[in-house]
Amino acid sequence: MKLTLAAFFIGTAVADQLASLGKYQVFEKLAVAPAPWIAKKDGHVDTDLSFKLRIHLKNQNIAAFHQKVFDVSTPNHVLYGRHLSRSEVNKILAPSPKGFVLVQEWLESHNLAQKSSVQNDWIVLEGTIGDAEKLLQTQYELFENTETGKVTARTLAYNIPASLHDYIDIIAPTTKFSTPSPHMSTIVKDYPAFDTKISASSPSDIHDGLDVVACNTTITPNCIKALYKFKHFRGSRRNGNEIALAGFLEEYAQHDDLATFLATYAPEANGSDFKTELINGGKNLQVSVNGTQNTGEANLDIQYGLALAYPTPTTYYSTGGRPPENTPYEVDNEPYLEFLTYLLALDKIPQVISISYGDTEWTVPEKYAHTVCNLFAQVAARGVSVFISSGDSGSGSNCSSIDPGKLQYTPDFPSTCPFVTSVGATFHVVPEVAVPFSGGGFSNYFPRPEYQDGVVDEYLSEHADPAFTKYYNTTGRAYPDISAQGVRFHLIVTGQDGQESGTSASAPTYAAVVALLNSDRISNGLPPFGFLNPWLYSRGADGHTDIVGGKGSGCRQVNGSGFAAVSGWDPVTGFGTPNFKELQDISTGDDSDES
Ligand SMILES: *[C@@H]1O[C@H](CO)[C@@H](O)[C@H](O)[C@H]1NC(C)=O
Ligand SMILES: *[C@@H]1O[C@H](CO)[C@@H](O)[C@H](O)[C@H]1NC(C)=O
Ligand SMILES: *[C@@H]1O[C@H](CO)[C@@H](O)[C@H](O)[C@H]1NC(C)=O
Ligand SMILES: *[C@@H]1O[C@H](CO)[C@@H](O)[C@H](O)[C@H]1NC(C)=O
Ligand SMILES: *[C@@H]1O[C@H](CO)[C@@H](O)[C@H](O)[C@H]1NC(C)=O
Ligand SMILES: *[C@@H]1O[C@H](CO)[C@@H](O)[C@H](O)[C@H]1NC(C)=O
Repeated sequence: MKLTLAAFFIGTAVADQLASLGKYQVFEKLAVAPAPWIAKKDGHVDTDLSFKLRIHLKNQNIAAFHQKVFDVSTPNHVLYGRHLSRSEVNKILAPSPKGFVLVQEWLESHNLAQKSSVQNDWIVLEGTIGDAEKLLQTQYELFENTETGKVTARTLAYNIPASLHDYIDIIAPTTKFSTPSPHMSTIVKDYPAFDTKISASSPSDIHDGLDVVACNTTITPNCIKALYKFKHFRGSRRNGNEIALAGFLEEYAQHDDLATFLATYAPEANGSDFKTELINGGKNLQVSVNGTQNTGEANLDIQYGLALAYPTPTTYYSTGGRPPENTPYEVDNEPYLEFLTYLLALDKIPQVISISYGDTEWTVPEKYAHTVCNLFAQVAARGVSVFISSGDSGSGSNCSSIDPGKLQYTPDFPSTCPFVTSVGATFHVVPEVAVPFSGGGFSNYFPRPEYQDGVVDEYLSEHADPAFTKYYNTTGRAYPDISAQGVRFHLIVTGQDGQESGTSASAPTYAAVVALLNSDRISNGLPPFGFLNPWLYSRGADGHTDIVGGKGSGCRQVNGSGFAAVSGWDPVTGFGTPNFKELQDISTGDDSDES
């Protein structure tokens, strides 16, 4: 629900406080745009362009809130499984009322209160770029990404009144340049019809229902179900359990491709479909009605998410990030903020969400990353498991950092947020090994959460190659947490059978396994898992096949760099890949007398 700010503050006496807002002071400032962005010399920003400026008021009680999220997610804690409602979350985190009053005064002093609304802890100004420039005493400029050619309007520095500095943590879009990209690479498009795709090469190649020869090279839903041992489990469509796949950047999931995929590769789910929810002007155009769209990432997510979690009801969230006008440059690409605030405003959020997008951590401003991670913590508090692909460049194919002279592994955000579950990639089946592109590493922004202490210490002391520890932050949140297959997934794109690879395939695969485990829990009268990691790092680890072969790639500037998959947890495959039967036993307590 939207409330105009003016209405929200009826009756609040503010006039006498106007003077107290204080002088404008710099709030955020960058020396230069982060590489690969450069200022466009001949660029000109149209100040009449509509522009959505989001002002986030600092939450109160953040540390206590984080503790609460861990408590409700930690097995054996008295609060385990007692997830919070929307109003309970808001009550704990509510920003100081004084912050709202001051921001109101500030907007009124520029005659902008009528264009503003309150959305939870956000104040959203729907005005023009000119309005934002006036409010922030700055000028937006055009910047170009020299790798992708994308042009965006941002500023290198802006100011707000001194008295507001204590109450606001971020204002966006301002100094954040990066936008997340899909973690997917296309291996083969328009792949010719593949006769051997379902039938086995010979009966002796089938072990435990797994076609070891076919699944060793390309992946279908049957490969995953046999490999991860859930061929015979059937979840419920009617117990309230749900799974959702998140889409950004005009990636559109196709209904007719899904229908072909299911008929070909998942006949038991033939005829099922997904529901679409559109956020912030997002669309889900169908190629058949509107020419060529980007569908590779969205189709991969929806085809595997739906087929593997079948019959769990499935939603595709398409979040837009551009103004309605056909502008030649981006002004408003803040997909996580839009997506997460939308979710948090729902009374019921799907229990499992998979996100196959990410970005190099250092290109995301630190305060921004913390704000987004706190939103993920709120989603976690609500009893939702969020799975994020760990990235497709190993420890970072190009060592780089905000300091151009410094070589550093490049961790991926939001995998580095300690309130999400990060999913790495494997390939082959006999044995299943780490794939070199599988992203992993250590955050420079988020300290290591307690739930990781034991296993990550053990990795660092017993397995990490001391020659390379200087390239990463051993005190940071380590990822991925777990992994799943990620190479040569058959899928249907514009009617053709193709294959795609990436941790983009691994995230919906693992998410679907957890959706089915949730279905089993709910049908057994247990709450859904919610935030999975505290459970994973205590009980769940044993329900995985440890991956001990293969190595993640390192950066090209440092020979031999990168992390290897070793016994126990490692920053390439986490604890390994799921064994549904064992996870199911651990989850519903059938193993309780073993511990
Ligand atoms: C699976 O692929 C790997 C790597 O190519 C190979 O070493 C192994 O022998 C293959 N296994 C089977 C059963 O084809
Ligand atoms: C899938 O459903 C369609 C129409 O509902 C039907 O024509 C087709 O034969 C079915 N395919 C399979 C493999 O069940
Ligand atoms: C096709 O795309 C155009 C431009 O993006 C849009 O204006 C139009 O509404 C779309 N048509 C359909 C049927 O989705
Ligand atoms: C990799 O880093 C070097 C310098 O550190 C830079 O010149 C180059 O453009 C980067 N390449 C990519 C693909 O990021
Ligand atoms: C390493 O991580 C810690 C904890 O998150 C952080 O405080 C520190 O700034 C990081 N160091 C570097 C060099 O980024
Ligand atoms: C890295 O290895 C390549 C060949 O594999 C070699 O040419 C290069 O000199 C090595 N660089 C360093 C810094 O050792």
